[in-house]
This record gives sequence, C-alpha cells and structure tokens, in this order.
Amino acid sequence: MKWISFHSSLAYAILVVHTASFPQLVAGTPFIAKNALKSWLQKRGDDGNATSEAVRYIRIDVSGEHAWRPPGANDKRGPCPALNAMANHGYLPRNGVVNMLTGSSMFGKVFGMAGELSLTLALYATLLSGDVLSLSFSIGGPHPGLLSPLLGGGNGLSGSHNKFETDSSVTHGDFFLFKGDVNSVQLPKFKKLLELQEDKKKPNFDLDVLTEHRKFTLQDSISTNPQFFYGPFSGLLVSNAGHCFIPGMFANFTQDNPKGLLTKEILMSFFAVYEDQDTGRLTHKRGHERIPENWYRRPPGGLLGDYGTTVFAQDLIRMASKYPQLLKVGGNTGRVNSFVGFDLGNITGGIYNSLDLLNLQSLVCFIFRVLLVIVPDTLQGGLLGGLIKVALNLLTKTLLPLVDPKCPGIQQWNTKILEGMPGYGKKGV
Ligand code: HEM
Repeated sequence: MKWISFHSSLAYAILVVHTASFPQLVAGTPFIAKNALKSWLQKRGDDGNATSEAVRYIRIDVSGEHAWRPPGANDKRGPCPALNAMANHGYLPRNGVVNMLTGSSMFGKVFGMAGELSLTLALYATLLSGDVLSLSFSIGGPHPGLLSPLLGGGNGLSGSHNKFETDSSVTHGDFFLFKGDVNSVQLPKFKKLLELQEDKKKPNFDLDVLTEHRKFTLQDSISTNPQFFYGPFSGLLVSNAGHCFIPGMFANFTQDNPKGLLTKEILMSFFAVYEDQDTGRLTHKRGHERIPENWYRRPPGGLLGDYGTTVFAQDLIRMASKYPQLLKVGGNTGRVNSFVGFDLGNITGGIYNSLDLLNLQSLVCFIFRVLLVIVPDTLQGGLLGGLIKVALNLLTKTLLPLVDPKCPGIQQWNTKILEGMPGYGKKGV
C-alpha cells in the first residue's frame, strides 16, 4: 500500500504547487456562499447597474498557435462544446486529454469562468471520469494513458452518463435514444432553439431565450425518452448549467454590448453547426467546434465579472422561478410521458428541499454539498485498489475550503426512490 500514500502525497504536492502558481484558482473562493456571493451581489446590484470597476474587453486569439484545426483521428472530443472548441484552438491539448489544474486556468482565460467553478468542474471530471494520479481527464472517450480509480470508469466525459453527461441537454441527444451517441448535436433540437429568435431584428440568445428552450428540452425528453432520468446532480445542476452557460459565456461581450450579444452565427460556430446558404439546410460536424473570429469573452470587472458558482445559481433561480419543475428530480418510468418527480427533500433527508433552492445561498450551499456526498457514494463499491483514498483526499482538500461551514451538510443521501427508474445509472446521479 506504500505506493498509494506516495501517490497520494504526490497528488497533493502537485495540487499545492499548481494552486500556488494559479492564484486566480483560489483567490476569493473560501466560503463562496458568504463572501463571493456578497461581493458579487454588491458588484452587480439588483438593477444590473455598472460599477466603477474598469472593464477590460478581451478578444480571444484564434490565429497562429491558436488557429483552429480539426481533431486528428486519435484526438478526443466529447459532449462539451466549450472544451472541444478550446482543444481545436490549442487552448487545451489538442489530443483532448486535460490536466485539471492547467485546464481550469484556461477555462478562465478563454471564457471568463471563475476559478472556483472551473476547478470544481475539472476536479469532478477527474475524479469520476479521469485519472486521479495524473490529475487528468479525457474530454471525449477513454484514453489509454489514463488510469482510473473506478472499475469501468476513466471513460472520459463521453462515457460519463448520469455522472456528468446527462439527458435533456441543450442540443445533444439522450443516451438511450441515440444508442449512446451523446456527442452529436441533434439538429431538430438545435432548430427549435434557433426558432426562438427567428423573427427578431437583432437575435440574441440570452438567458430568457434559453429559459424557454429549457422548458422545451425538459418536456422533449419526457415525451420522447422512456428512460429519461433527471438526477439531483446530473439533471438539476449539470443539464441546467449547460443552458445557463450559453448566454453567460458564449456571448460576445463588447463595449456596444456589455451584457453580451449571442448571435446565431456565434452559436453555430460554438456548436459546429453549418448552414447551406442556398438551401438553409443545417449540418453538424462532430468535434469541429470553433471559437468565432473577433469574439470577446466575458470580461473581468464591470457589470458582470467572472462566471462563478453564484452567477450560475442566480441564473438557475431565474429559470426555475419561471419553471419550478426544473427543481424536481426523477424520471420516466419506462414509458414516455410517465415522469415522476420527487422533491429533493426525499433524497437529502429534508436538509435541502426543492423550493429552498430558489434561495441563492441555499442553492450555492447545495451545489457544493451535493458533490461532497455523491463523489464518495459513486466511488464506493467500484474501486480499483486503494485509489479511493487519493480520490477522497483530493475531493476534501480541494472542495471543502470552498464551502461555507454554515452550509448544512447532507447526512442522509437516499437515492432508493430513484433506483427503480429505468434510466438510473448505478453510479453518479
Ligand atoms: C472542466 C470544465 C468543464 C467540464 C468538465 C464540462 C463538462 C461538460 C459535460 C460533461 C457536458 C455534457 C452535459 C450534458 O450532457 O448535457 C457539458 C455540456 C456543456 N458545457 Fe461544459 N464542461 C466544462 C466547462 C465548460 C465551459 C467553460 C463552458 C462554457 C463556456 C461549458 C459549456 C457547456 C455547454 C453550453 C454545454 C451544453 C451542451 C449541450 O447540451 O448541447 N462547459 N459540459
């Protein structure tokens, strides 16, 4: 067992060194629910007024070493359009295998995602679909160089159904409906999104538009996928995050459009959807996601600031205030339109109830607490050797400092009511 503790200390050493070299990963992050939340609210203000903090509009370079190139035959590409685009421009390794620490700093650099959120996403991807020894994960399918603490794990993001990859996505199809192809944009779904802005003089795919699309994507899965599953993490958080991230981080942020403008062309570029100019016919080229020319990322400072956990929570609350069904978890029972939704309180022993999540602080608390409970739960019983210790140590050392200790911990995690659903995977939720 010596090698495990060696690797465990190695993993910490790497983490400490890396976080020291990327102070933006940790700066201002302890106790998000308290401090970052407060400062974000102060900075943004309910009326969305600008602050005196200077804004820097940053154009993302897509030339030279960052010129777009399609993936090679062995390069990994998967369900996340942002990660695919970054790899196609060399902001992430072009082979699609990403170190969680260097990767995290790139998500901030290219998209303006806050350090605490990008580190959390990358950590989760590493723990449940990657390799805890090299702190890396594949953005697509399995990579032979990556070890995994999980039997049958290490499958990369494309193989992370119900752990990370999930049903009722913005544009991609449900796992069971498309024989496991979760990487292709389903064009009818994409067209539905486009139609929401079809007659607009100045089309802008903002949060209000994505909220309407969200209503559609949820109902679409309910009415077409007998095995549709909407878990507390993969459904309630991840699939909604996909909808929120689009206006929050794909929009073009310029002096003329400080709140961001997301045109049809930008949207199509990020999703690798091409339109035939003569016929209007759309096609999707898998893995060809591209950062548009002259595209300016979400800027630091000013109206908005980085896109972090509290911003996501705020966006989700806006969507769920209009469509409270987004906060119920459950699934279809083997037939279409048979959705059974449970209050989250049934799963968390009443600690977090669905409607509580309309409160910003509770939702931010829940986001972190759910990760602290589902990772160990998922790792249990599917482990190779003692790598679980490395994984759990990484989880607590990285995530715990981000959580306000006042956030109630989830003592009971009772997924029994979900396990009967045909779409429930054995791991993740
Ligand atoms: C470590 C960082 C990240 C990881 C591990 C990750 C992972 C994923 C995964 C697994 C999905 C599939 C979810 C589903 O099935 O619905 C996804 C979707 C998505 N991600 Fe990411 N992501 C990361 C960062 C980002 C960033 C920085 C952005 C935005 C700028 C982003 C935008 C999106 C969008 C818009 C979708 C929805 C795609 C669709 O449903 O059509 N992601 N991501």
